[in-house]
Amino acid sequence: MADIDNLKDTKDYFLDVPVQPAQTNVRGANALDWGMQNRLSRIFGPGSGKTVMLAVDHGYFQGPTAGLERVDLTIVPLLQNADALMCTRGILRSTIPSSLQSGVVLRASGGPSILKEMSNEHIAVDMDDAARLNVAAVAVQVFIGGEFETQSVHNMTRLVDAGLGRGIPVLGVTAVGKDMVRDARYFRLACRICAELGAQFVKTYYVAEGFETVTASCPVPVVMAGGKKLPELEALTMAYRAVQEGAAGVDMGRNIFQSDAPVAMIQAVNKVVHDAMKPKQAFELFKSLRREHVGIRV
Ligand code: 5RP
Repeated sequence: MADIDNLKDTKDYFLDVPVQPAQTNVRGANALDWGMQNRLSRIFGPGSGKTVMLAVDHGYFQGPTAGLERVDLTIVPLLQNADALMCTRGILRSTIPSSLQSGVVLRASGGPSILKEMSNEHIAVDMDDAARLNVAAVAVQVFIGGEFETQSVHNMTRLVDAGLGRGIPVLGVTAVGKDMVRDARYFRLACRICAELGAQFVKTYYVAEGFETVTASCPVPVVMAGGKKLPELEALTMAYRAVQEGAAGVDMGRNIFQSDAPVAMIQAVNKVVHDAMKPKQAFELFKSLRREHVGIRV
């Protein structure tokens, strides 16, 4: 039993100070349960409220992607610079140290490889397993306009239901098929559908024209997808513009791990996202950090 002799009288009620509501700085998250808000805060940090996610889940449909042949050697050293890591449970269990402090966004859809119709995905992770892995969120590909559009939307809504039951948020990833137009009109449609149907945050591509309308019309955070490898200054410029135009951060894979200096690149991306560093300055930072890392594998 606790020692209850000589208990101190209570007195510090601060009667002149209104009780402070506990609020999240994540868009659209105020009505979510505490556990889900807490998980979202592992992705969108309390500082800038934005995120630098490192995407390394490519192997789930395309095998050992360039730069991901040895995740233990090329990705693990980057983790201290990532707010969140997007990966599969296979890589998580086999290769990522369990001491990881960043939030994990677990790939939870899959099925077809690059050899087949990509939109024919199914749910690939049970929410119980996501809970066992203590992930911050699960991610599901949504193929609006794709051959298996309805099936992919249904994958997302089932994960949203299961996630609400466990306090695990869902990231809706807007996938673009080979023949689809990538413009603001399409991404407004795709992001809004994900949010309306319950995704707690959305990942989508940047478009030079009208990206601010994509973020403005989406009631939950929009995270910019990285996409194909670009020269570093272009990738930093794209990330800068996306954040200035309303993105809550970035989820970049190849533009970080396929850089010739991935540590320097992820550090420069952090500056752009969290400190609004201008792209040219971030590129100068990248180049000086790259010089420091000459001779080091990453
Ligand atoms: C595609 C994905 C991928 O699996 C991956 O995360 C893409 O990363 P990047 O294009 O930045 O290399 O989610 O939508």
